[in-house]
Amino acid sequence: MYRSRITEILEEEAGVDIAVEYPENEQFGDFATNAALVVAKKEGKNPKEVAGSLVEKLKKSDALATVVEKIEVAGPGFINFFLSQEALFESLQKAEEENYGSTDIGKGKAILVEYSSPNIAKSFGVGHLRSTIIGQVLYNLYKALGYKTISENHLGDWGTQFGTILYQITANKLDVGSLDVGKLEGLYVDVNRKAKEDSKLWDEARGWFKKLEQGDEPARKIWEAVRKISLEEFERIYKRLGVSFENMHGESFYEDKMPATIEEVRVKGLANKSEGAEIIEFLKMPPAMLVKSDGTTTYFTRDLATAKYRVETWNPEILIYEVGSDQILHLRQVFETARLMGWAEGRQFVHVAHGLIRFQGGKMSTRAGQSIKLEEVLDEAVKKASGIIEKSETGRGLSDEEKKNVSEAVGIGAIKYFDLTHHPLTDIIFDWDKIFVLEGNSGPYLQYTYARTQSVLAKAKVNEANKSTLGDINKEEKSVLRAIVRYEDVIFDAAKSFSPNLLANYLFDLAQKYNNFYNQHRIIGSDSQDFRLSLSSAVGKLLKSGLSILGIQTPQKM
Ligand code: ARG
Repeated sequence: MYRSRITEILEEEAGVDIAVEYPENEQFGDFATNAALVVAKKEGKNPKEVAGSLVEKLKKSDALATVVEKIEVAGPGFINFFLSQEALFESLQKAEEENYGSTDIGKGKAILVEYSSPNIAKSFGVGHLRSTIIGQVLYNLYKALGYKTISENHLGDWGTQFGTILYQITANKLDVGSLDVGKLEGLYVDVNRKAKEDSKLWDEARGWFKKLEQGDEPARKIWEAVRKISLEEFERIYKRLGVSFENMHGESFYEDKMPATIEEVRVKGLANKSEGAEIIEFLKMPPAMLVKSDGTTTYFTRDLATAKYRVETWNPEILIYEVGSDQILHLRQVFETARLMGWAEGRQFVHVAHGLIRFQGGKMSTRAGQSIKLEEVLDEAVKKASGIIEKSETGRGLSDEEKKNVSEAVGIGAIKYFDLTHHPLTDIIFDWDKIFVLEGNSGPYLQYTYARTQSVLAKAKVNEANKSTLGDINKEEKSVLRAIVRYEDVIFDAAKSFSPNLLANYLFDLAQKYNNFYNQHRIIGSDSQDFRLSLSSAVGKLLKSGLSILGIQTPQKM
């Protein structure tokens, strides 16, 4: 709230677009800007002088008078702002209110977030974890900004690969009722192995997919059964992860929407004939396949129909696709076609690409039959969490039922948090020690800190409240207050830059500052007890609200 106020005033004075930032180092104040350097460069002036005269003007601003205690020029012409104690207290008060951090800047605008999108007939592997986690957080972030948010799970439930499953089931006369996802995946692995010797198998598979596309009854029935088996497993995992979707239109949903889409592309003159197929050509990218020479559609065709449907149904300002970085080219082709078709007018298509999760063994692949199952990873995490709870002093006081729930919250939270501290694009190396580090940047550390604030507040209720007076706040308290101020802007920045890591790492910073304060100062029975309790309560609220945006639970005790 202060950042935008300062930015506005500065822009008015300086007459250019300004970036106001949070300096890394507290000694440079609460906000800093290079505005003077920008203006000086533009006007060919001395930056220090420009900064000096800007500061003089700012000091006269009534709107800043109560907010800022000090404004100074630093280095070659940076301007640093120090918030007044009054302003710090105002944001402490705000932080204690419900919904601090939520705004309504997105009011009247829609945003669509697609995430997870696993493929049916395969188990839910670790490969789809990042999309599921990051996508849900982006959804939550935009919701907190007041947008009408729409979530989509673009299930991979259509395409040539179902030909292989159909082929396997019919050729081996398998009873669909007896299959589960593990067995289905086995079929897939098996066909890949066999096809190495007999590549005609792929023709069989393509033939089956064609039947499916043409509405062949038996093919359709098997496909439906396979889809149902997979969805049951996915739902179980989503429930465990606390993830949900408003829509689960899989690729199959667009089957009957493709003819109209293809026709529209032809009418626009974008479809080119090429060796019996139809392709779309681009200036700086390889062509994309619209219709194959055997008349079937492709993954790309389905994505075109999908884009059109999303635009026409929800008219979103932004369409976020949370999909692995191996699909960067594919989505660029889709987005560029959408632009050429006129669907992107006044809106943004964004691919939030994520990197891989690596285990020591390198990239995991279903094809090689060594995909790591997500459920196994989650079970392992919960087991580790349960070990922590058993050892902790408060944990020992919990009932068995409570221990079970807390372990689940801590184990799953640790995995999610570890993912979210990284920028989506970076690859992450799965390291159990880091995931559960109790004295470092981890989910359990933040959950501990939250539980600590709650235990302080609970104890205070038991102890008779001491009257307290507020003198000057100390260094550690001030650090916490200054961190509290940032929360609202962090939510905004994390959403706008599609970077949940900004929120995750902010919460770590806040927790560290609070713990630093906690370790050095007594709260209950101290002279500033009331203030310190309200600091604890605000930090607790921000941790809870921030972690809930990250999809991480906050147990009262652990
Ligand atoms: N099912 C695909 C996969 O697992 C991801 C889908 C991505 N979304 C999209 N609109 N193409 O690779």
